[in-house]
Amino acid sequence: MSRPVRLIVCINQRLGTGQRSCVGSGNLDYIRQMRELITAAGLDVSVVERECLGKCDFGPVMRIAPGGRFFTEIDASTLPRIVRELKSYIAEQDA
Ligand code: FES
Repeated sequence: MSRPVRLIVCINQRLGTGQRSCVGSGNLDYIRQMRELITAAGLDVSVVERECLGKCDFGPVMRIAPGGRFFTEIDASTLPRIVRELKSYIAEQDA
């Protein structure tokens, strides 16, 4: 039996530090778009918000879970690739 598939997304903003963070790099907008793309694709994937995924200098960051790949330095062009990766990941889980 396969485990539920999640897309872990970083909602951290390092206010006042001058350091890079996922929200400071636009991740809230990408998260909103990913929710829409996941719904449009009919995927059974939960979007789970986390405070930090430990790759702040490479944000925006998302990760497929459990045990899936990281996506770093996300921009709008990355989102369709994440959807494709989610589909492949689900297919592998179901195999
Ligand atoms: S701020 Fe997103 S990984 Fe740390």
